[in-house]
Amino acid sequence: MTAVPAAAGTDAMVARLLAELQDRRRYDIGFPGATDLTFPALAKIVTGQLLNNVGDPWDEGHGHNHTKDIERRVVDLVADLLRAPAGRWGYVTTGASEGTLHALNAAWQDHPDVVVYASAAAHYSVTKAARLLKLPLVQIRTDATGRMDVTDLAGELARRRDRPAMVVATAGTTMSEAVDDVTAIREVCDDLAILRRRIHVDAALSGIPLALLPEKARPGFDFTAGATSMVISGHKFLSTLMPCGVLIHDRRPAGPAGRVVYTGSADTTITGSRSGHTPLLLWWALTTLGRRGLHRRAQQSRKLAAYTQQQLTRIGWPHARNPHAFTVTLAQPPAAVMRKWVLAGDGQTAHIVCMPGVTQEQIDEFLDDLRASDLARPRLHVVPDLDAAVTPLRAPRPRARRSRVARGELR
Ligand SMILES: Cc1ncc(COP(=O)(O)O)c(C=O)c1O
Repeated sequence: MTAVPAAAGTDAMVARLLAELQDRRRYDIGFPGATDLTFPALAKIVTGQLLNNVGDPWDEGHGHNHTKDIERRVVDLVADLLRAPAGRWGYVTTGASEGTLHALNAAWQDHPDVVVYASAAAHYSVTKAARLLKLPLVQIRTDATGRMDVTDLAGELARRRDRPAMVVATAGTTMSEAVDDVTAIREVCDDLAILRRRIHVDAALSGIPLALLPEKARPGFDFTAGATSMVISGHKFLSTLMPCGVLIHDRRPAGPAGRVVYTGSADTTITGSRSGHTPLLLWWALTTLGRRGLHRRAQQSRKLAAYTQQQLTRIGWPHARNPHAFTVTLAQPPAAVMRKWVLAGDGQTAHIVCMPGVTQEQIDEFLDDLRASDLARPRLHVVPDLDAAVTPLRAPRPRARRSRVARGELR
């Protein structure tokens, strides 16, 4: 093998890029990618080996340059955390979006007249998957905290009781990290006798952190609550640095029979060629840290989110946080602050996601900027009234201005 030599100027360019990336990362606190883990022990494999896990992970295929044994271990580790039943099946995807597409496709294979239900707070990948598969999608209302309104879901399901249902729940919505009540979703389907159903849980961000909570604190969001498939992202909590995800089904979905002649493996995955490197990164993160180490990281993130909340309360800035969340939703700061900090604002609200890798120094710098901004008092912003309904704020309630805004008087 030959290492690709640097050409004129490329070394300097790479050094510049690295410095730029490290500098920019400091202000990137609005997207949920953990950055605290690095993988030097895997560097030789990641940068020096061709690895292609083409096709089904349980089918070795003709080629030998793969890590399917490691991939199967990753699927098992994640499936155990999410309490998937025996007989489960899954694979390492390019991300949560691909996992949701796979789950919707599996539902369509079982029931070609399936109707998809997802909340208004679901990730855009759900709409995209339904559109790609030409499946009807019914959008369900959310409550003030961002959770799917199960009463609205019941009404919509009741209108189409004769049709199979694919309900997509979210464990950790993109904007407020709300966790849909999967137990209640299953009960609603049972009450309506909708037996031809699947419940997919998009647990991109929160799947692993919630799964590590002690039993009594763990919300009903996983396979034991009623999920029939779930997906997590690897580059979010597990800090794989490269985008990837893990999809788990409760059973092997119906798929194309037989094997692709030239690969020697079944074509059960969305993409054919698949990374053999990302299963390694996932496996490393899961096994070197173990449940305790991962839980400790999650708790540190929650502690930082609680700190952020307290400081925002202190300066009277409208904000809210769902139980167990790393995410603090806040009224969108003024433009000057938004130019410096990446906060995923939508014009009214923005958020900080206290992922592993985000430090208190970053939060303090952000708060200094917010305080320094002369306009640091939201007038026309509306934050969902989360604090009233959800998190028992430890710090005192924000000032009166916050309540007026939250009630939507200025809308
Ligand atoms: C709830 C939710 N689902 C899915 C995704 C997309 O995940 P991925 O980037 O792994 O495809 C995100 C990304 O932020 C998300 O928040």
